[in-house]
Amino acid sequence: MSPRTATPRHYLMCRPVHFTVDYSINPWMDPAKPTDTGTALAQWDQLHALFQRLGHTVELIEPLPGLPDMVFAANGATTLDGRVLGARFRHPERAAEGPAYADWFRARGWRVKDAEHVNEGEGDLLVVGERVLAGTGFRTEAAAHAEAREFLGREVVPLRLVDPRYYHLDTALAVLSDTEVMYHPPAFDAASRAVLERLYPDALLADADDARVFGLNAVSDGANVVLPEAAVRLAERLRERGFTPIGVDLTELLRAGGAVKCCTLELRH
Ligand code: ARG
Repeated sequence: MSPRTATPRHYLMCRPVHFTVDYSINPWMDPAKPTDTGTALAQWDQLHALFQRLGHTVELIEPLPGLPDMVFAANGATTLDGRVLGARFRHPERAAEGPAYADWFRARGWRVKDAEHVNEGEGDLLVVGERVLAGTGFRTEAAAHAEAREFLGREVVPLRLVDPRYYHLDTALAVLSDTEVMYHPPAFDAASRAVLERLYPDALLADADDARVFGLNAVSDGANVVLPEAAVRLAERLRERGFTPIGVDLTELLRAGGAVKCCTLELRH
């Protein structure tokens, strides 16, 4: 078992004050099923407190009324080397979140590029060490991958998602360290699976049960892996690899199709 070292992270989160499901833009969202904002807040508060207990710095962006998905901060931007690629959302329901997050960064002196093509932030653009894994198929456009490569100055590896339940890359793949990922192979087309096998031959593969409870929507600091508590087999496999899995309950937010990673945008200075 390799020894694991956690590095303190800087995150941006958004409290789900206005959380509800009143439109449907992914198969998890059913506006006919009532949500409980109080439960969402209590679950989110646990996640927020956990990150602080783990020694991470968490910044907050003010939640705006009428933007119930704004809690999913991962979609708000992509940051690398102090640069910020703004988000541009596919659906009009979320469009106003792009400028809201961009304004937050600009007000704090970050250099922000407004996106020309649809990209939903770290939902589809995941930084793994020196490269960026980039999802497409449901939300982020392939043209945005080239834009990300240009602006962020890193190798960008396109991956095509094929299962509508796993509509963002961060619902099907999680970054564990600068060299390790875990993912659910059936969420990707054959060519993308081949790319992942070549780049990460020892990757931890998640089964359908762990994927369905959003076990891959996880946040790692290199040692601790925070993930939905229902992903029990995945937690066991992480432990075998020397990680410390920490399960949390975000089931209320899963009614909008999000969990741990969706709520967490990493700020890379
Ligand atoms: N309801 C949101 C949507 O469909 C959920 C976003 C989840 N965020 C994520 N990073 N996967 O856009």
